[in-house]
Amino acid sequence: MFWAIVPAAGRGARFGGEVPKQYLEVAGRSVLAHTLDALLSHPRVAGAVVALSAGDPRWPGWRELAGKPVIACVGGATRAESVLAALCALPIDVPAEDFVLVHDAARPNLAAADLDSLCAACDAPYAVGAILAAPVRDTLKRADADGGIAATEPRDRLWRAFTPQMFRRGQLTRALAEAAAQGIEVTDEAMAIERLGLRPVLVEGREDNFKITTPADLARFAFEVSRR
Ligand code: CTP
Ligand code: MG
Repeated sequence: MFWAIVPAAGRGARFGGEVPKQYLEVAGRSVLAHTLDALLSHPRVAGAVVALSAGDPRWPGWRELAGKPVIACVGGATRAESVLAALCALPIDVPAEDFVLVHDAARPNLAAADLDSLCAACDAPYAVGAILAAPVRDTLKRADADGGIAATEPRDRLWRAFTPQMFRRGQLTRALAEAAAQGIEVTDEAMAIERLGLRPVLVEGREDNFKITTPADLARFAFEVSRR
């Protein structure tokens, strides 16, 4: 069984509006509730630590969901800081060698089958860790300063990194703390681990595990929920 770490302390600047996107409702439940349900309803997930903004007035105070423990903690100014804070709030009896799953609160459309394949990738005895991702399918253009096309970039072997990302509790904590100490802002967990010279595995996941960034993404999620 693996604990889930859920960074949910963002302000949703690109989404706009007064209510942070993780608290917008779809089919009568917040995005965060959908995300926690997708994680905690999976048989391999033991519980969740959720990183919240300081004094978050919208947190419903859950201590248990789907019969599993939920722990809240205060996140930080960046996603990486929030993840590090949540790792530190894990129950002390979660061993350093245990894998944890880090998953954005803003990705509520996670499929159980994707969690299955990610967990399977970490079942090997000496696994470093793995992330869900998808190959880049569009042709990539590099822009010049005026928005013209400077070059067409090869897209072979380029992937888009999603979450969940799965790493060992102790190693991920050290990797994030080290990056922070060196003033390097890592944008995902794998980047922190890569900096140690280790090689996490790419697990191809579903394209519909999208992150809600703009109102169009929320409409897409509402559509996905209506089809279930
Ligand atoms: N997050 C966090 N702590 C931060 C920043 C982000 O826990 N200081 C979380 C967000 O709540 C979200 C996830 O990290 O679940 C992915 O970040 P993103 O999609 O960038 O969300 P926001 O930072 O809230 O949005 P924006 O960048 O548009 O402000
Ligand atoms: Mg952000």
